[in-house]
Amino acid sequence: MTMRNTENHWGWLSKLLHWLTAVLILIQIPLGFYAEELKLSPLKLDLFVWHKSIGMLILLLAIERLLWRITGTIPKPLDNNPIQRRMAQLAHALLYGLMLALPISGWITTSAANIPTKLFWLIELPAITGPDEALKKLAAEVHEVCVIMLIIILLVHIGAALYHHFKLRDSILKRMWF
Ligand code: HEM
Ligand code: HEM
Repeated sequence: MTMRNTENHWGWLSKLLHWLTAVLILIQIPLGFYAEELKLSPLKLDLFVWHKSIGMLILLLAIERLLWRITGTIPKPLDNNPIQRRMAQLAHALLYGLMLALPISGWITTSAANIPTKLFWLIELPAITGPDEALKKLAAEVHEVCVIMLIIILLVHIGAALYHHFKLRDSILKRMWF
């Protein structure tokens, strides 16, 4: 298995980054909702450390993924239908955008709320803004709108992958797997 993508195959680095991010995001969403529901407690604080740590990891992986994609090729789309092809491109672009917008809006929320955070209890997360109540509210709202968009697009994305695999019986899902 090669590291680089070709015209017909995903290389292992793209596959690894895709599935690692997928697992982290599928943990991150329920974790965020659950942590937010809890009353203030040591558990809530710990879960938020996990949430911020995993979220910043997702940001790093997304940047790495985008750089890797921009500097290399990706496999040709398998869809013959131009509308379907456009929809897939749009969904993928939005997913990349959200993988950046979510961590950044979360980071602004914590910074503006003036909450010091040690990622994985090890690395101090630098504040990217000073304390600012209005900005905190705004960033938290952006975070939440992005969450809702992410859930909707992921349902479409995963639904499309399953539709290709089980209904159209093409190799779209298989070629993203190892
Ligand atoms: C378990 C659920 C998931 C399944 C079954 C799945 C399946 C797939 C498949 C089969 C492809 C390849 C499409 C092709 O070869 O043309 C793909 C691409 C992609 N997936 Fe997923 N995926 C899942 C979760 C996610 C998550 C959570 C994200 C990120 C939020 C994500 C983001 C992307 C992106 C951005 C691409 C396009 C890659 C590119 O063109 O650079 N996927 N996915
Ligand atoms: C892809 C990455 C991320 C996803 C999918 C995600 C998802 C979520 C979800 C589902 C919630 C609960 C619903 C809501 O209030 O919005 C939430 C809340 C929150 N997240 Fe994230 N998050 C991500 C990254 C981050 C990062 C990197 C940080 C901080 C460094 C962060 C900080 C927060 C905070 C502070 C809240 C509570 C917001 C409030 O007070 O309303 N998130 N996140």
